[in-house]
Amino acid sequence: MRTTIRTLEKLKRERRPITCLTAYDAGFARLLDLSDIDVILVGDSLGMVIQGHDTTLPVTLEHMRYHLEAVARGSERAMLMADLPFLGDRDVATALEQGGALMRAGAQMVKVECNGGHVELVHRMVMAGIPVCAHLGLTPQAVHRFGGYRVQGRETGAADRMQQEALELEQAGAQCLLLEGVPEALAARIVHGARAPVIGIGASPECDGQVLVLQDVIGLTPSPPRFARNFMADTGSLQDAVAAYAEAVRNRSFPVSGVHTFG
Ligand code: KIV
Repeated sequence: MRTTIRTLEKLKRERRPITCLTAYDAGFARLLDLSDIDVILVGDSLGMVIQGHDTTLPVTLEHMRYHLEAVARGSERAMLMADLPFLGDRDVATALEQGGALMRAGAQMVKVECNGGHVELVHRMVMAGIPVCAHLGLTPQAVHRFGGYRVQGRETGAADRMQQEALELEQAGAQCLLLEGVPEALAARIVHGARAPVIGIGASPECDGQVLVLQDVIGLTPSPPRFARNFMADTGSLQDAVAAYAEAVRNRSFPVSGVHTFG
C-alpha cells in the first residue's frame, strides 16, 4: 500500500517531517523505497538532470509519462507526485487532459507551478479528481520571466502576495504546497498559516517536509544549488546517501537555517 495524502497530513499534525526526493527511473525509485522516502517526485527537473537541458521547458507530457511509469513500476511504498509540464496549465481543458494522463500513469498528485492566476485552474483540477500540489516561489518553468533562477518574494509586496496566493490556492483545493527559493521568514509565515502540508526546497527548516533533486543528494551535479547537500560525500553508497538524507530531514539536521536557506 502506498503512502497517501492522509499520511502526509498525519505527519504534519504530529510535527514529523515529510521526506521527498525526485526519481525518474525504476532503479532509483526502488532505492528510495528502501529508505522509506515518503514522497517520490517525478519532477520536470528531469529535463536538466536526465536530458541535459538548461531549463525544464523542453519536457513534454510524453517524457513525464515515460519516467512516471518507470518510477511506478519500481516502487510500491512512496506516494507518487508528478509535474504538470510547461504549458500544461495553458487552459483548464489542457490541464485536465494532461493532469488526467499523469494520474492514469500512476501519479497520486500532480504538482502545478502556480501564481495568483492559477486559482480557478487548480479548483477545476481538484473538482475533476486530480489532487494538486501548488508549487510557489522560484517556479523553474518561469525562469525566463524571472531573468534567472532567483529567490522570489524578497520585497514586502511580493512576499504578502505569495502568502495570499498560498491561502487562495489552498482554499481552491490544493492539498499540498511546495515552496522553492523563498526567504526563510516568508516560508515560515506560509507554513504557519497553512492547513495543508508544506514541502520546502531552499525555503525553511520549519516546512512540514523537505525535497531535493536526487542527483544533488548523490553528488552527480557539477555545480549544485546552495540549498542542496551532497550526502554521498559522507557515505559510501547510494543507499547510505539516500538513508542519510532521510534521517537528516527526519531529525531536522537538514536543512540548516542560513546555510541551506535564504535571508
Ligand atoms: O522538478 C522538480 O524536481 C521540482 C523540485 C525541484 C521541487 O520541481
